[in-house]
Order: sequence, then C-alpha cells, then structure tokens
Amino acid sequence: MEHIIAFLLLLSTFLLPSSSHHYTALFHFGDSMSDTGNVRIGRLPYGMTFFGRATGRCSDGRLVIDFIAQDLGFPLLPPSNERESNFSKGANFAWVAATTLGFDFFNERGLSKGLWVNASVYVQVDRFEKLLPSICGAPQDCKDCLGKSLFIVGEFGGNDYSTALFFGRSIDEVTTFVPHVVHAISDGVERLIGLGAVDIIVPGLLPVGCFPLYLTNYHTQDTEDYGHKTGCARRYNALSWLHNAQLRRSLDDLHRKYPTISLRYADYYSQIFDFVINPLKYGFTAGALRTCCGNGGGLYNYDQGRRCNDKGYTVCENRSTHVSWDGIHMTEAAHRVIANGWLYGPYVNPPILANSSRT
Ligand SMILES: *[C@@H]1O[C@H](CO)[C@@H](O)[C@H](O)[C@H]1NC(C)=O
Ligand SMILES: *[C@@H]1O[C@H](CO)[C@@H](O)[C@H](O)[C@H]1NC(C)=O
Ligand SMILES: *[C@@H]1O[C@H](CO)[C@@H](O)[C@H](O)[C@H]1NC(C)=O
Repeated sequence: MEHIIAFLLLLSTFLLPSSSHHYTALFHFGDSMSDTGNVRIGRLPYGMTFFGRATGRCSDGRLVIDFIAQDLGFPLLPPSNERESNFSKGANFAWVAATTLGFDFFNERGLSKGLWVNASVYVQVDRFEKLLPSICGAPQDCKDCLGKSLFIVGEFGGNDYSTALFFGRSIDEVTTFVPHVVHAISDGVERLIGLGAVDIIVPGLLPVGCFPLYLTNYHTQDTEDYGHKTGCARRYNALSWLHNAQLRRSLDDLHRKYPTISLRYADYYSQIFDFVINPLKYGFTAGALRTCCGNGGGLYNYDQGRRCNDKGYTVCENRSTHVSWDGIHMTEAAHRVIANGWLYGPYVNPPILANSSRT
C-alpha cells in the first residue's frame, strides 16, 4: 500500500502539469524602470504599443514587472498611491526618479537640488508597511500572506549615480557612493524580511554605459573609452559592474544571516549586454544603442534637450527592432525578453517559474 502511494506520488510529480507558482501576491519596489503609474508623467507616444495611452510607464508598452505579473496570472500591479485600488494581490511602490538613498545623503554632498522625488528604498518600504492593514489585515494574517508573496526590490541605484554625474561630479566621486547605495538596498531587503517576506528577487544595475543617454552626454573622441565589441562606454559600465559585484556580496551576507529566506539576484547586466553583442538573436535589427523614439538623429538618435515626446520627435517604424525606447528606458519588446530571462531562466536562478514549461 505504502509503495503504491509512494509510486503514485512519484508519478504525479511527472504527470501533473508542473503547474505554476503558489504566490498569493506580488510586491515591487524600484524606480522608473518599473513604476506603473505612481508618477503620472508623460503622454503619447509613451504607452502607444500596449495601452494606447500614457500610463506613467516609461516605455512604449509593458514593463518587465507587467510581463511577470501577467505570466504569474496576476492583474497588472496597481500603483501604491492609487487609493481606490484593491491591493490584496499586490502593489507597486516603484517611483519614477527614485533614488536608493534618501534626502540627507544628497544634501550632505550639495546634491539635494538634483532630487525630484522623496521615494528612497526606505520611504518605499515605509509606504508598504503603512499599507499592510489594507493589504492583508491583522499582523498574523499579514505574516501568512507575505510568506506566500513574491517581492522584487529594484533595480535601484541608477538615479543615485546619475543625479551626481549630471551635477558634474566625477565618476571617481560617484564610485564612492556604491557601498552606501548597496547598503541601503540591503537594509530595505532586511526590513522586508522582518515584515514577513521570504521570497525576494533583487535586480542589479543595467550596463548604463550602453544607453544612449550616457553615450551621448559623455561622448569622447577616444576609442579606448568604448568597448571594442560593444561600443558601450567602458567607465560607466564599470560603475554598474562594481555596484553589482557589491550587491551580490551583500545578498550572500544576507543569505548567511537568513538561510531559510530565498534571495535571488536578477542579472539585468548580462542580459542587456547580450542584447548589445548579439542583437539579431532577439530581432533587434537596429542594434542596441540607438533610440527608437527621439529627436536628435546622430549616432544614437538622442538629444538631451529634445527628447522623445518633445516637439518634433519621431518614433521608429518597428519598435520591436529596438532595445532603447527613449534613450533612458527600454522598449516593450526588450522588456518581454528580459522578463522571459527571469521567469524561465537563465537570468534569475532558479527562474521564477522554475518548473513550468513555456507555451
Ligand atoms: C479585494 O479583492 C479580494 C479578491 O481578490 C477580495 O476577497 C477582497 O474582499 C477585496 N477587498 C476589498 C476591500 O474590496
Ligand atoms: C520623505 O518622506 C518621509 C516619509 O514618507 C518623511 O519622513 C521625510 O521627511 C520626507 N523627506 C523629505 C525631504 O521630504
Ligand atoms: C518588426 O520587428 C520584429 C523583430 O525584428 C520582426 O519579427 C517583425 O516581423 C517586424 N514587423 C514588421 C511589420 O516588419
């Protein structure tokens, strides 16, 4: 009898459609890479590909978090500041222009004028904590609910570094921010663990030196400043690389401290780097370094003073051939590929839908 049951159990693990996840809710924290409407700036052509209107998303359509929500069977995540929303299946605390570090850090360095918003990791986790009663009710119910939820914390950091760089600070000075930024991310993750999170994904920084914004604003005549195979700006990618190395180390430390918590790194860097090296593999026939929606022409179709949706902009004919949407953010097509890399591997390991096959 026991043998038969054991056999049936074994069989069922092979025969049952290795069905999906068991998450009850999805929570996201971050910046303009993942804001789904907390900041409602922008107008068409933002949103043109999927929504037919601007939603606050910094893209022509869906973001990585939207594809993750859809593939997990969730509704698109409501922004956390949408009062009328029902957050029982999750919420998105990401904020356009959010920095990881708070006001004081930038103020001490004479950079407070570069901050647009008050939405550091600390503030976003605060907002999450304040919303908990409306998400899951009493503290014990919340422990149960959050214990079955997926948390994605990031990416964070891009705006901390760009705020200082755009203020004319040297990359050497900005590099000294890295341990502070990583520490703030790690603190945020630890606070979420304290509130009951057990399954957390932490994305690293993108290879910012491959984005038209950086390529244009920091253009030099010295070919040694650029990767030979990529055309990306080496020094800016080195900053991302350093951030990611320190972030991974701090996740390892957290993992040692909380061995039962699932903490996964999401590797934006390698994936986007592959877009640059092998664009045709993904249908990015325009290459990865040229902006789809722009005004500037030039090598990267980017002009800081006349951007996508400023007067006179044009949108490329086929948006799926581009990685870059507006020089800073990516196209829906690129987000789809990235989401696949997290959901089905290999850029989150184990992938979010580890046991599912793609249909
Ligand atoms: C929110 O939606 C859930 C089902 O998804 C439902 O059980 C709950 O009652 C709703 N809460 C409110 C306040 O409408
Ligand atoms: C940012 O928001 C937090 C709480 O939401 C508040 O305590 C803090 O004073 C705010 N900081 C600034 C500079 O507005
Ligand atoms: C647009 O580009 C994608 C990716 O390269 C390609 O698969 C598709 O066929 C193109 N669509 C049109 C209408 O050319």
